[in-house]
Amino acid sequence: MTDAVPTIIDCDPGVDDAIAILMALGNRSMIDLRAITCVAGNVPLSRTSANARRVLDLAGCTDVPVFDGCAHPIMTPEGRTSSAHGSDGLGGVDLPEPVTTIQPEHAIDAINRIARDTPGGIVLCPIGPMTNVALALLRYPDLKEHIRQIVLMGGACFGPGNITPFAEFNFHVDPHAAQIVMNSGIPIMLFGLDVTRQALLNRSFSLDLAASDNLFYQTVGQMLGAYESRDPCLHDPCVIAWLIDPSLFQSVAAHVEITLGKDDAAGQSVARTSAKHLGERHPNCECVTHVDAVGLETLLKRSLEQLVQSGVGRPD
Ligand code: RIB
Ligand code: CA
Repeated sequence: MTDAVPTIIDCDPGVDDAIAILMALGNRSMIDLRAITCVAGNVPLSRTSANARRVLDLAGCTDVPVFDGCAHPIMTPEGRTSSAHGSDGLGGVDLPEPVTTIQPEHAIDAINRIARDTPGGIVLCPIGPMTNVALALLRYPDLKEHIRQIVLMGGACFGPGNITPFAEFNFHVDPHAAQIVMNSGIPIMLFGLDVTRQALLNRSFSLDLAASDNLFYQTVGQMLGAYESRDPCLHDPCVIAWLIDPSLFQSVAAHVEITLGKDDAAGQSVARTSAKHLGERHPNCECVTHVDAVGLETLLKRSLEQLVQSGVGRPD
């Protein structure tokens, strides 16, 4: 009986999402990746969906189902995109159109079904706007009983945002969804910019990969090279790294609430940690504040090596 953690990654690939997926696939003895669900974010849903499947094809992975979710945030007809990943969402690397097909079930329903069918529930890892997760929780009120924990990338609790001076991209794109998730009562590990800005990409790391004679490493190196010139932080891989080695991180209990509205403050994550500031509020998450960046890079390197050694990362 494997003790791998049953996990769903909800994502908007996005280069850092792609690296997070590859990190999970490189550690399948610890992470039982039950599904990937896609949401509009860095690029529109049609591209995030294709990119998630292109990444699975790149890793030679054929047993992880992919489901499409929401094409725009809850309250706006279309979400903001991010230029950090290039117009195609994967840094413009030359990857063929996906072979992996999309499943017919909506992401919201797939999250519910898989969570209910998993004894002890699943760990849900949203690393894009929280739209799918929020609507799954609203559509299925008792779904929370089948989610062990939410380990998410989003927010900026003790510093400035990245998409506006106040808000981080995932929370800014769909602040209402972020608030629904933070109010869910489910145990949350929150990886905001406070910690992911410490997870800096080492340029020599991506250059070495790109210079490899292994096509898989070359492709990952090219993706990272294109990405790091615009955003040098490994935001989403922090979430997966924590599932593999939580000792790399430090956190503080916090009550986080999300600023709503339509201006630059929309999606701001307002954190309270001290008894004085908490008042009657109770912490609703562990807010991650520190990472061993060298240890994280070592883990990423090892994860990619494990993928290649298992023969999975070697496309024909
Ligand atoms: O702010 C960084 C987050 O927004 C990352 O998840 C990145 O992929 C984008 O979704
Ligand atoms: Ca993302």
